[in-house]
Amino acid sequence: MTTGARIAVIGAGHVGLPTAAALARFGHTVVCAERDDERFGALVAGKVPIVEEGLGELLAEVVAKGGLRFVRSAAEAARGAQFVFLCVATPERDDGSVDLSFVEGVATEIARELEPGAIVVNKSTVPVGTALDVERITAATVVSNPEFLREGSAVRDSLRPDRVVVGADDRGAARRVGELFSESGAPLIVTDTVTAETIKYASNAFLATKLSFVNVLAGLCESVGADVRDVVLGLGYDRRIGFDFLRPGPGWGGSCLPKDTAALLHIAEDAGYDFALLRAVISANEDARERVVRKVEDVAGGDLSGRTVGVWGLTFKAGTDDRRISPATAVARRLAELGATVRAYDPTVPAGPAPADLEGVVVCADAYDACRGASAVVLLTEWDEFRSLDFTKVADVMASPALVDARNLLDPVALRRAGFSYAGIGRP
Ligand code: UDX
Repeated sequence: MTTGARIAVIGAGHVGLPTAAALARFGHTVVCAERDDERFGALVAGKVPIVEEGLGELLAEVVAKGGLRFVRSAAEAARGAQFVFLCVATPERDDGSVDLSFVEGVATEIARELEPGAIVVNKSTVPVGTALDVERITAATVVSNPEFLREGSAVRDSLRPDRVVVGADDRGAARRVGELFSESGAPLIVTDTVTAETIKYASNAFLATKLSFVNVLAGLCESVGADVRDVVLGLGYDRRIGFDFLRPGPGWGGSCLPKDTAALLHIAEDAGYDFALLRAVISANEDARERVVRKVEDVAGGDLSGRTVGVWGLTFKAGTDDRRISPATAVARRLAELGATVRAYDPTVPAGPAPADLEGVVVCADAYDACRGASAVVLLTEWDEFRSLDFTKVADVMASPALVDARNLLDPVALRRAGFSYAGIGRP
């Protein structure tokens, strides 16, 4: 079976929604469950509740063709489905372990509704061994099918994934789930559940390792007077290394990398395995954020108390409105803690009263307003619009024109010409 399956997708979030849309585009009939009233209302009204390039168009297309519809409850979606995809959140607990209450809650809810032979597919990132728990709760065959999509390119990643991983003790069931994606043309890796679950954590831990490596390397470049951009160019042409995921920045964030590295460390500890390398990767990420804060202090002339600092960008990366575990919001809050008046602008955050994660920060309507009276401005998210600002105008509204470019997005020569003192990451 390559097309025409009846599929339920539980959860219309950053993973569930692109997954449901892609499966519908592959020719399956998909029912997607979303229990949040506001989100459900938006979806049935044809609105997309998250910022994600191309998702609105894809949803409109598959809904119009009858390939996708939305319902309120997981039980309703699961009724009559041959495959039920779990795409619910698995938040991090304070100790770094994974909170499985949503996965277990949904598993309990759908258990009564499952048709004989229905397969439960777990896309949520879960600790190694969770598939067996879900199997126990649902009494169905469970296939682990980890998701590798990135926010901001979720549609492309869902329609054309680099690979599809399916893991189950029943390899036939795993293969059937893999075949649902055959239209994508992606290589299929069929394995056992524990291995599939481990692949997801290993991928994100490796990506985090690359990023922490390049951020530490940037620090070294500053110490020895090298330019990290050319160092990365020299590294990247080696095909064993490649160019991807080697842009230094204010640290890595988002809903996956921080949570999954913490979870993997926890899993390793529980298994009695000392994953010291991963601990160092996580701690280097905290240092990366702190180094940006130190740079702001330096360019602003020292003590930040009583000074104003402008912040450009609040999301954890460009192309999304997601601020979960965003290095940008962490740096903004830290600057406020150090006594600065922080004026921030992000294209996805409306001006006005600060949301809870930005308490103490003034949210401004544009990049210029954020710099009014500032002793320094720090660019934290690589939004394209920051490249084309009128920097003379920016300098005019600032108390003193100083800029920390934590994404190496801007041209230092042009900025110095506009009167700025400029500090990038890993550049002399
Ligand atoms: C990540 C994984 O890439 C994806 O496979 C998984 O399914 C979910 O987690 P995402 O959270 O969308 O995806 O973000 P990603 O694009 O991986 O970026 C993670 C963080 O690293 C961001 O804070 C980003 O700004 C930072 N980053 C990324 C860099 O600082 N430099 C880079 O070169 C790349």
